Amino acid sequence: MSNESQTIRVGILGFGTVGQGTWKHLVENAESLKKILGVEVLPVRASVRDLTKDRKLAIDADALTDDSMSIVDDPGVDLICELMGGIEEARVLTLRAFANGKSVVTANKALICEHGEELFSEAEKAGVRYAFEASVAGGIPIIKVLRESLVANEFPLIYGILNGTSNYILTRMESEGATFDDVLADARDLGYVEADEALDLDGVDAAHKAVILAYLAHGMWISLKDITVEGIREISNEDLLAARKLGCKIKLIGVIRRNFENNHISVGVHPALVPVGEIIARTDGVYNGVSLTGTVVGTVVLTGRGAGQDPTAGSVISDIVDVVKGMKGMNSQPKLLHVTPDECTAATAKEICGCFYLRLRVDDRPGQLAQIAECLAEREVSLATVSQTPKDEDRSAQIILTTHQTNEHSIQLAIEALKQLPGVKESPVLFRMFDPNGFENQ
Ligand SMILES: NC(=O)c1ccc[n+]([C@@H]2O[C@H](COP(=O)([O-])OP(=O)(O)OC[C@H]3O[C@@H](n4cnc5c(N)ncnc54)[C@H](OP(=O)(O)O)[C@@H]3O)[C@@H](O)[C@H]2O)c1
Repeated sequence: MSNESQTIRVGILGFGTVGQGTWKHLVENAESLKKILGVEVLPVRASVRDLTKDRKLAIDADALTDDSMSIVDDPGVDLICELMGGIEEARVLTLRAFANGKSVVTANKALICEHGEELFSEAEKAGVRYAFEASVAGGIPIIKVLRESLVANEFPLIYGILNGTSNYILTRMESEGATFDDVLADARDLGYVEADEALDLDGVDAAHKAVILAYLAHGMWISLKDITVEGIREISNEDLLAARKLGCKIKLIGVIRRNFENNHISVGVHPALVPVGEIIARTDGVYNGVSLTGTVVGTVVLTGRGAGQDPTAGSVISDIVDVVKGMKGMNSQPKLLHVTPDECTAATAKEICGCFYLRLRVDDRPGQLAQIAECLAEREVSLATVSQTPKDEDRSAQIILTTHQTNEHSIQLAIEALKQLPGVKESPVLFRMFDPNGFENQ
């Protein structure tokens, strides 16, 4: 902090969507921030990869560099915002900032998911903050609510929509009957899809956020490779219609469950049929929604814009304000976790229970359905509903089944067996049926 001017000088690594938004709103809100904090908080430098690129926000050319380390090492910069994304370079710069005694505010969920354990530990050792509100659900203040406002709770269930792009695609497929490919093309045109599309479409981005939420709620880092991560590519318009008939909508959800009796925890991201009565089922378009069930508060649902320049910059600035308050001794630094990390272990597939939706394409011949029912029953999967539609073009039929309560182990065995069954023409499509009231059965 410069003594003469009482200004906190912010260095921004990455001057793209979120970096420019943060710079813009820091400047536009400088007066009100000064009133709140008693000091000025101003962006002074930013880094990019390509200095020749046109930027929507014009800033002094001297403030822009392609050498991020020079900002981290600059004694004229008090606080770092890491808004460049990526993993290894962002990690090195963040660790260097800590070593230089500087707190870091980030929106980088991929980095936290991969290296959170190391980064939080190094920040603590260095006596600085690593703040990350913008990393989960963009503009929704989920981290603060989970960690501070709901501090009196334990969380048997957290679930919700954590990726706006996939939600936008599913919403338009459902409401307009548009195809996956057509809506994806529009989403690309609108700039909603990450350069690496797998992050949005295969559930990886949502999984990064689910891992962070699981850590905050339960103090346990769960590796991405140990959790179920499925995306939206298999969902057809027929599935969305069938779900509607069952009183549900198909959403890509992250689910974090903990059984407090045996301390088993499960984390997953996958499409699921969610009953339309749930707020999460009605959270449409690019919106995100997170439902937190706490032991004291009951269920709290937060919805809002999960990404975008302004909402995400708003979360970054809220972290900056917290960090500056800490620097000025205006508030005690909130602890990273309110929970004592217990010895949780991962729930086994036999412990994760629920009902399932299956779509199969089969030869249209007598006895086929009975054979399928028998194959499922042998693996302890019983049918709840069945509907069959003949497809005249190739003498096949589409069968949509839902099951009674079973577990992940049994259903996976059943799927493998169905694939081998004579007359089953394609690998069956499986979605979970999410029952927020049935999670205690796991
Ligand atoms: N966009 C959102 O709505 C949103 C929401 C929540 C969280 N986030 C997270 O926020 C972070 C930034 O996202 P974004 O959407 O703002 O990305 P972006 O628009 O692609 O901007 C990234 C910026 O970082 C710069 N950069 C990348 N690698 C660099 C390097 N090695 N050295 C120097 N500069 C580098 C880029 O420079 P060039 O411009 O020269 O290429 C660009 O200015 C990511 O971690 C993302 O996951 C984004």
